[in-house]
Amino acid sequence: MKTINVTDTVQYIGVDDKTIDLFESQYVVPNGVSYNSYVILDEKTAVMDSVDARGTKEWFANLEHALDGRTPDYLVVNHLEPDHAGNIQRFMEKYPKAQLVTNQRALSMLPQFFSMDMSGRSVVVKEGDELSLGSHLLTFVMAPMVHWPEVMVTYEKTEKVLFSADAFGKFGALDADEAWTCEARRYFINIVGKYGAQVQALLKKAKELDIRFICPLHGPVLSGDLSVYLEKYDIWSSYRPEDEGIVIACASVHGNTKAAAKELAAILEEKGAKKVSFFDLARDDMAEALEDAFRYDKMVLASTTYDAGLFPGMESFLARLKSKNYQKRTVGLIENGSWAPMAGKLMKDCLSQMKEITLAEPVVTIKSTLNAQSREQLEQLADALLN
Ligand code: FEO
Repeated sequence: MKTINVTDTVQYIGVDDKTIDLFESQYVVPNGVSYNSYVILDEKTAVMDSVDARGTKEWFANLEHALDGRTPDYLVVNHLEPDHAGNIQRFMEKYPKAQLVTNQRALSMLPQFFSMDMSGRSVVVKEGDELSLGSHLLTFVMAPMVHWPEVMVTYEKTEKVLFSADAFGKFGALDADEAWTCEARRYFINIVGKYGAQVQALLKKAKELDIRFICPLHGPVLSGDLSVYLEKYDIWSSYRPEDEGIVIACASVHGNTKAAAKELAAILEEKGAKKVSFFDLARDDMAEALEDAFRYDKMVLASTTYDAGLFPGMESFLARLKSKNYQKRTVGLIENGSWAPMAGKLMKDCLSQMKEITLAEPVVTIKSTLNAQSREQLEQLADALLN
């Protein structure tokens, strides 16, 4: 059982999950993940979101501890994805007098997840609606597509707390000994990254609020100088490069394409590149490769031609880049093909569908292994990337 005071009357009652193999069935989480939930204690008590079904027992124990014999009046549902909504029905069954507070979009999606009819026990809220708990006043702010269409965030005016749903969340259990930025960036780019415009819209609304604490649905409660986090979110959601550096991502069958990519990395470092970040797309965490692709201003893609197409790791990586709106970057290409190299053309075609991509020339062509001519091309590509 674990509850943490955010303030005297706002308590954290979430749970850590350190045994999940893959978050959302695709993301490795070496330090686990937290499913956050909060209780506001006032004349009326409000529970802010539930947790994943994996944390049911612990969450109810935390909730009971925080309530200390009281009965909850409201369950505010900011986001309906199962990692937060997994216990809505159990909660409503356990506390038959409690009311569900959410927006119409979420309410209409509820029957897709739960058999219980909650329409008669719901308070439907829209943009700007308020709900008084006594001395605390909740204001509801719609945040569609950050990260699902029904998402809203809730601002508590008295203690200046923003319950921000997935926004400002990160991978990692609460006791993970790691900085916020790296795992918050990997989380953002991979999970919310596609919806930059919607995050920008939320940031605009957040600017109008006086915020002391940000209480997200994953990761630590943020306090102190919040401009640090807001600034990162502004950069990430506007797709601006955050740092100067070159990502090299390779997809190699027998290692020759990888050797060429490694050689380029060495040349770049020798010529004074500030930062080179290298990924083998068959072996390294693709979510981290994607994170770095958005973090840095330049990238080199190196792929073998395979079945007249791209080797699967590169095909998948490009699909993810496109899906997350990769843009505003300089990209170089290395292709390999023992008899009919096609990878360069295919990667170029894919990049042409993305906004504001500058191609660094030349495209390096390898036929099986590097030779004097392709080594010369690597040198030229390195110069183009550094100039
Ligand atoms: Fe943490 Fe979109 O759920």
